[in-house]
Amino acid sequence: MTLVDKRTNPIKKIQTNQPDWSALIPVLPGEGPRSRELYAALRRLIETGALAAGAKLPTTRDLARRFGLSRSAAVACFEMLISEGFATAKVGAGTFVAADVPRLPAARLSEHPPEIGVVPSLPCGIGVAVSDPRTLNIFRILLSRHLARPGPEHFRYGDPRGGIALRTAIATYLRTARGVRCDAGQIVLTSGTQQGLDVLMRAAIRPGDAVWLENPCYPMAHAALAGSGARVFGVPVDGEGLDPEIGEALCPGARAAYVTPSHQYPLGVTMTMRRRLALLDWARRNNAWIIEDDYDSEFRYAGPPLTSLQGMDGSGRVAYLGTFSKVLFPGLRIGYAVVPEALLDAVLAVRMRSDRYPSTLAEGALTDLLNEGHFAAHLRRVRRRVQASRDVLVAGLKAHCESLDVTVPEQGLHLVAALKGAGPDTEIVEAAKAAGVGARALSAMFISGSPRQGLVLGFSGFSDEELLAATVRLGGVMR
Ligand SMILES: Cc1ncc(COP(=O)(O)O)c(C=O)c1O
Repeated sequence: MTLVDKRTNPIKKIQTNQPDWSALIPVLPGEGPRSRELYAALRRLIETGALAAGAKLPTTRDLARRFGLSRSAAVACFEMLISEGFATAKVGAGTFVAADVPRLPAARLSEHPPEIGVVPSLPCGIGVAVSDPRTLNIFRILLSRHLARPGPEHFRYGDPRGGIALRTAIATYLRTARGVRCDAGQIVLTSGTQQGLDVLMRAAIRPGDAVWLENPCYPMAHAALAGSGARVFGVPVDGEGLDPEIGEALCPGARAAYVTPSHQYPLGVTMTMRRRLALLDWARRNNAWIIEDDYDSEFRYAGPPLTSLQGMDGSGRVAYLGTFSKVLFPGLRIGYAVVPEALLDAVLAVRMRSDRYPSTLAEGALTDLLNEGHFAAHLRRVRRRVQASRDVLVAGLKAHCESLDVTVPEQGLHLVAALKGAGPDTEIVEAAKAAGVGARALSAMFISGSPRQGLVLGFSGFSDEELLAATVRLGGVMR
């Protein structure tokens, strides 16, 4: 087979009769111990079965040449694989994937996060924002204002963090509304929480590092964590939120924890002060990162909102993620990360490599929306609207779905209903879908342990009639 060595010389050909390893092993980052990166990449290929038991590994000389490593780095990588039982060396014949690859620890999760994909927005589906005609009209006017007199920022390359005007407006909003300790310099605009999470993981985590994830969890967070090569450990969530004591017992040396402390997704629990302090303390003692996803705090209907975890952190260990997907609309694709100073350079390097800097097109209009008071007025309107939708859904479920035990959420755009005996939830969800109801199965959001049975139902973005009719159909399915 003929391969092109992209690292050392783009036109030099390498003759080999071995598989194309460079296609299998991801490009290694430019910094850090490279033998460790290569080790993690090879180990992952072995663990996932991409490299079968007994397969011959390339020679250390070949690996070194192909990935631009020193020979000793490649040898060190093989030594690690051999000492951990992932490979065996046969004198004179080479190095081979071990016949008996060590089993993964019990808490290690599958490569395939549950419940992901584009779901049709049937009534009671989740992830649908309110389409508010007044806000859309104002946004149209603001966009036209900016397009009529386009600034120079559209015609040249910009700051990887995004424009300073929008970052300043977001910093002001976060300081007052969420108690986040930040200035505009630490804010990185993203195309939503998902990109923020992906960039943070790639900046802070090395493949093979352990990370805590809430169990049950937001499936797209699981996707980002697993996709970064982290070893993901599900840490149980109870009535107080994620339990750091169990996290420490399961995996004390984790490098990071992903949490939704204001409104746990999907259960809806608010993390108690006791747990917040314990989590911050763990991160400080272990030099670990906490990634706080504050996705729907704008929709609080009762009780005082707890300030963000980031605002309580005195050690710079919390990265805060926010989004306009819920409060405005997901198609806008604008979110933001408040990045601790110690991570900022690494985050910006990853961000620049991936998409240079955010789109400037909507930045000006969104800045004006925030600065001119339209956003605050919008929030008041949609919060009222979504709260009314929640009440309609709860009343409908109580009237038509006797086998559901509904918890009325004080925050957010969805609720969780436990199944009283009926089940399994995955079958109900399939039947509901056929009847035109967009419920999700709670059990599918558990990543380990025994999953709880329930339905996750959204109430935002649908009319009262649609929601009520959906509860009648759901009741029919469950009878
Ligand atoms: C827990 C959680 N975080 C964040 C988001 C928003 O993601 P994005 O900003 O990428 O649209 C969602 C949307 O469903 C969510 O459920």
